[in-house]
Amino acid sequence: MFEAMTAQSRFVPDLDCIDLHNERVSELVTILSQAIGLAEQKIKEFAWAARVHDVGKRFISEDIRNKPGKLSQPEFNKMQAHCVAGYQMLYRLGYDEIFLNTALYHHENWDGSGYPDGLREDNIPLEAQVCSICDVYEALRATRCYKASKTHKEAVKIILALFGSKFNPKLRPFFVKALPEFEKLESLILADSQAQLSV
Ligand SMILES: [Fe+2]
Ligand SMILES: [Fe+2]
Repeated sequence: MFEAMTAQSRFVPDLDCIDLHNERVSELVTILSQAIGLAEQKIKEFAWAARVHDVGKRFISEDIRNKPGKLSQPEFNKMQAHCVAGYQMLYRLGYDEIFLNTALYHHENWDGSGYPDGLREDNIPLEAQVCSICDVYEALRATRCYKASKTHKEAVKIILALFGSKFNPKLRPFFVKALPEFEKLESLILADSQAQLSV
């Protein structure tokens, strides 16, 4: 199923790096899941699911996805719909629970302030919690048409301050343990920046 998904995604132009983002988040999920000490099979499943966590963004208009600057409230509402859109697509295609949970819940927050359902604490599936941390790290580190990248240190500082509110505080030590490996993904970030400069 995962291979089918990847093949299908090739038919859609990846103008704003959804695939690159998904791929890097997936690599980060592998690293963080290893630091947590999850079983080998679980690590693979979490990483595969992260590979398509933002697939629903393909249903959001490019104007909104690539808008430089802050989104208006209606635009933000439309953007938030990518979680449900991705979930519905993966559900129809027969993906299993880990994929569905990751697509639907990767923007839920530990304190209940996230979306789409405002889930709290351990009601948020672990696969979505892990993806969420890696998602934010990648988003901070990456260069996009609407923002510059943060350094590894800057991104880590921001994320560390979010454990207990956005992220599960019990995952903090595992995030810290994973950081040397996170930092090694620098080359991917640089490759992305260079690719964008050469467009
Ligand atoms: Fe997302
Ligand atoms: Fe994402």
